[in-house]
Amino acid sequence: MSVLVVTGTGTDVGKTVATAAVAACAAGAVAVVKPAQTGLAPGEPGDLAEVLRLAGCADVHEYARFPDPLSPAAAARRSGLADLDRDDVLGRIAALDATHDLVLVEGAGGLLVEMSRDGWTLRDLLGDLGAPALVVTEPGLGTLNATALTLEALHAGSIDVAGIVIGRWPSAPDLACWCNVHDLAGLARLVGVLPDGLAQVTDFPRRAAAALAPALGGTFDVSAFRRLAHQEEQTWPTSSR
Ligand SMILES: Nc1ncnc2c1ncn2[C@@H]1O[C@H](COP(=O)(O)OP(=O)(O)OP(=O)(O)O)[C@@H](O)[C@H]1O
Ligand SMILES: [Mg+2]
Repeated sequence: MSVLVVTGTGTDVGKTVATAAVAACAAGAVAVVKPAQTGLAPGEPGDLAEVLRLAGCADVHEYARFPDPLSPAAAARRSGLADLDRDDVLGRIAALDATHDLVLVEGAGGLLVEMSRDGWTLRDLLGDLGAPALVVTEPGLGTLNATALTLEALHAGSIDVAGIVIGRWPSAPDLACWCNVHDLAGLARLVGVLPDGLAQVTDFPRRAAAALAPALGGTFDVSAFRRLAHQEEQTWPTSSR
């Protein structure tokens, strides 16, 4: 009986892995929706196959697929296939919401990517659904502007923000990564830090729970992580370029 939309600062930031992590930690009946999958031919394993592989969630729903690795709007334009229909997507997600405890919806690319040739975006769908957005970000240099812009666009659309998940936290973080923890957490509530390599582990549900905050069904101690980041920031040797 709730919908959570997983967006991010762009493509390849870890939305699918984050979606799988949330699905793995959620209690009750969970469905995962990928309204538009681009870059794959019919039958090829897409993001939902990855959710099944990682989280074991088989209640997955893809509504449109276009072969070119482009935005759904551009890929539909080139394919000659029908566009994704906003009302149809809304209706299908609402129907899933009525029969599930949680419906996770993964966007395509970032928040303002056009989902069809008439220009609707994931932000429009968020507004239609009245659902909150979970924002997946990168950890390193360059993430602050992209994250701030995404959050600003969500606020401009009066969309609730469920929090920020850092999508691929490196095993050897550099100074920018450590400092970004403070700054990202200042932009919105930090609710998860997914370690790099998470997509390759054999015990994904357990590792996902250790990487997500209790708000997302996990056990990750955000305060302790922020204290560690602060300590690293304070003790990191100063270097000049
Ligand atoms: N925490 C992680 N550990 C290991 N690999 C990861 C992690 N997060 C993402 N990846 C890898 O990075 C790549 C991109 O991640 P993912 O598919 O989740 O991105 P995305 O934001 O969903 O991309 P898209 O816009 O194509 O849907 C994948 O190969 C994925 O396995
Ligand atoms: Mg994805």
